[in-house]
Amino acid sequence: MTKTRSLLRSILYVPGANARALEKSDGLAADGIIYDLEDAVAPEAKGPSREKLREHLAASRFPGLKIVRINPIETREGTEDLLMARGSGIDAVLLPKVEDGDMLEAAARALDEMDAPAGLRLWAMIETPRGIARAEKIARKGVRGRLSAFVVGTNDIRLATDIQPDAGRTELLPWLMQIVLAAKANGLYVLDGVFGDLRDGEGLRLECAAGRRMGFDGKTLIHPAQIDPANAAFGPSEAEIGEAEAIVAAFERPDNAGRGVIQLDGRMVERLHLTQARRVLLRRDEIATRSFETPSNDA
Ligand code: COA
Ligand code: MG
Repeated sequence: MTKTRSLLRSILYVPGANARALEKSDGLAADGIIYDLEDAVAPEAKGPSREKLREHLAASRFPGLKIVRINPIETREGTEDLLMARGSGIDAVLLPKVEDGDMLEAAARALDEMDAPAGLRLWAMIETPRGIARAEKIARKGVRGRLSAFVVGTNDIRLATDIQPDAGRTELLPWLMQIVLAAKANGLYVLDGVFGDLRDGEGLRLECAAGRRMGFDGKTLIHPAQIDPANAAFGPSEAEIGEAEAIVAAFERPDNAGRGVIQLDGRMVERLHLTQARRVLLRRDEIATRSFETPSNDA
C-alpha cells in the first residue's frame, strides 16, 4: 500500500493514555494521527501509556500518516519515548516546544545513534515565544536533519504570552504567518493549531477555512467529529477541481500547443497555473484512494 504522504488535511491527536480512543482511531478518516505521550498524558501515566502505545502501533492498521509526540528529549521520559518510536514503524516523531536548531540536531543525532530508519522524519512544535521568533532559523537548520513539518501549538502560545485573540485570531495572525513563511521558505509542511470548542461546528469551519487561506497544509484536531470539516476545508473544492480540469484541457488543445500563456474565460492563464492545476488533480486522486482505504468513520 502506498501512503499518500502529501495529504495532511486532518491530523488528529489521540492521547496515548486513552485505550478507547486508540482503538477507535484505526478506523477514522483522518489523514494522520499524532499519538500523544506529552501534554495529553498525566505524569504518572507516562510509562504505562508508552507501553500501551507500543502494543497498539505493532498491531495498528491505520492507513494514514502515523506520528508520535514525545516528551522533551532531554528528559528520561523523552528518551524512552524516542526509543519506542524509532522501532514502531511510524512516519515521524513530533518534538514539543522546539526553540532552536540545536534541539532538532540533538534529536536527529539521537535517532541516528539508535539506527532509526532513514525515512523517519522529525516534526517540530512551534509553540513558544522563542520558537516563533526563531522559526526561520529552526526550519533552515532542521531541513538538513530529518525535519519535514512544523505544527503550531496555539494553546501553549496563548499560555506563554497572555495573548487573548478574538474569534478570528486577529492578534495571533502575525505570529502564525511568520511560522507559515518560515516553513514555506524551507520546503516544510505546516499544520495549524487545534480548535478547542467541541460544540462550535461553525467556529471550527471558519477557522479551518482561515487556515487554508493562510497557506497551512491542514489542521491539527482533538476529536473525531472535527475530521470531516478539516478534510473538506483543506482538500480541493469542487470549484477548484473544475477549474483545474478546465486549465489542463485548455493547454491540451492543439491550437494552444507550445503557448506559454493563454486566455481562459476572460482570465490570463500561464504554464505555472497548469502546474498548479495538475497538483490539484493529483490531490483529488490521492483523496479518492485515501477514502477508499478508510471507508468507515462512525465517530
Ligand atoms: N481520538 C480518538 N477517539 C476520540 C478522540 C480522539 N482524540 N476524542 C474522542 N474520541 C472518541 C471517544 O473515545 C468516544 O468514543 P466512543 O463513543 O466510541 O466511546 C467518541 O470519540 C466520542 O467522544 P466524546 O464523548 O464526544 O468526547 P470525550 O469526552 O470522550 O473526549 C476529549 C473529549 C477532549 C477529552 C477528547 O476528545 C480528547 O482527549 N482529545 C484529544 C486531546 C489531546 O490529545 N490533546 C493534546 C493535544 S492539543
Ligand atoms: Mg504543547
